[in-house]
Amino acid sequence: MAAFPRDIDAQNLSFSTSPTASFPSQASSHPGSALANRTIPLANTKHLKPFATEDIKVLLLENVNQTGREILTQQGYQVEFLKSSLPEDELIEKIRDVHVIGIRSKTKLTARVLKEARNLIVVGCFCIGTNQVDLQYAAEHGIAVFNSPFSNSRSVAELVIGEIIALARQLGDRSNEMHNGTWNKVSNKCWEIRGKTLGIIGYGHIGAQLSVLAEAMGMSVLYYDVVNLMALGTACQVPKLETLLSKSDFITCHVPELPETQNMIGKLQFEQMKNGSYLINASRGSVVDIPALIEAMRSGKVAGAALDVYPNEPAGNGDYFNADLNTWGTDIRNLKNIILTPHIGGSTEEAQRAIGVEVAEALVRYVNMGTTLGAVNLPEVALRSLTMDEPNHARVIYIHRNIPGVLRKVNEILGDHNVDKQMTDSRGDVAYLMADISSVDNATIKDLYERLESLSSRIMTRVLY
Ligand SMILES: NC(=O)c1ccc[n+]([C@@H]2O[C@H](COP(=O)([O-])OP(=O)(O)OC[C@H]3O[C@@H](n4cnc5c(N)ncnc54)[C@H](O)[C@@H]3O)[C@@H](O)[C@H]2O)c1
Repeated sequence: MAAFPRDIDAQNLSFSTSPTASFPSQASSHPGSALANRTIPLANTKHLKPFATEDIKVLLLENVNQTGREILTQQGYQVEFLKSSLPEDELIEKIRDVHVIGIRSKTKLTARVLKEARNLIVVGCFCIGTNQVDLQYAAEHGIAVFNSPFSNSRSVAELVIGEIIALARQLGDRSNEMHNGTWNKVSNKCWEIRGKTLGIIGYGHIGAQLSVLAEAMGMSVLYYDVVNLMALGTACQVPKLETLLSKSDFITCHVPELPETQNMIGKLQFEQMKNGSYLINASRGSVVDIPALIEAMRSGKVAGAALDVYPNEPAGNGDYFNADLNTWGTDIRNLKNIILTPHIGGSTEEAQRAIGVEVAEALVRYVNMGTTLGAVNLPEVALRSLTMDEPNHARVIYIHRNIPGVLRKVNEILGDHNVDKQMTDSRGDVAYLMADISSVDNATIKDLYERLESLSSRIMTRVLY
């Protein structure tokens, strides 16, 4: 698969010297953070191009947020936008032609679909999850995949703050009673949250946001994490989960779904909690053993709970939250002081906008500069941007199978030229090499491209200039 020179006449290449360039400074990037992915204009940065940007065809499905659409359109790419996903045969027809595809969770990019995507270089998942894409197949065919794992952290943290107060005051129950016509004014076992202790399990993007918000409301914060992490404010890391459980009034889970976090909160952990404590889970449904939670709530050990995620979640909206979906479905609905929400922790307008910006910027950086920071299926490689003082430079990207001796062969080809900087990294069987070469002309670029393409290790060669 080649991005150059199939689309253009290599003999008539001209070098891009666009003065309106605005691309991120690698020095200011921190992989994984939303901030890292902001486009930071540098006055002297050279605007690299794979080929004329108006030749880049982008297909956006599933009503990708306007912020993302605008960023891609402003690049001069040809953007086709559809509000829905497509049936597989229509998707295959459309994907044949495009270089970039943007999807959300409903579009399945299986090996069968990707096999037809002969021009595709990158997939943008404008969402958190990427299991709708065959990541392995994509990597083996040099197709990068990006997503937006952290754009909704604040939205989740704010939901949890709301739930802490709602549980402490039994708001769900009082509201339900009023909806049923019952006036039930009580103060028994209703609390202020000021002065109470919040235990955060997993002090990552969401846990850390929550820590700051909780302290601002007068709570003390303890956290437990497998990594030693700098505390924010006066929060305090504890070495054992048991310590956190025995000292906290409110416990909230913010760990990833891993074998080690499966049923991390079960019968034993409920026993270790204070009597009358509260549990919140907005991480993943596998983290809390729900039958054990039901038992702990029935016995009064746990005074309230809020769940946003479940072991089994329906694919669409409707009357699905019942015992057919999860065996304990009816039992949990009959409990008092439990807030049940349909995985809406990250579902806000702000998060959707941030996802649009984060993923679209990652796509632009990949198409124009070859940067893979944040890719979920390729090694993360970036080189400092070329500047306007480097007009006759080209950036060579060589995605290849990670087999012994390949770098020697590549460097034999690059070695005839002046390589300013070079970086290679591998992930599994796929390696990604990026090199900036100075003093090149059109004929040199063509020669380099053809020689790299002829290597048996090649997956994809791109030349940006
Ligand atoms: N409800 C929603 O809509 C929603 C939205 C976004 C994220 N999430 C989920 O929230 C969770 C946290 O997200 P995040 O962005 O803060 O993730 P993150 O990767 O930034 O942080 C996770 C933290 O958990 C820690 N951790 C990992 N394993 C652990 C273990 N066994 N014990 C203790 N700590 C452990 C990690 O070291 C890390 O600090 C994830 O499961 C994510 O899928 C849910």
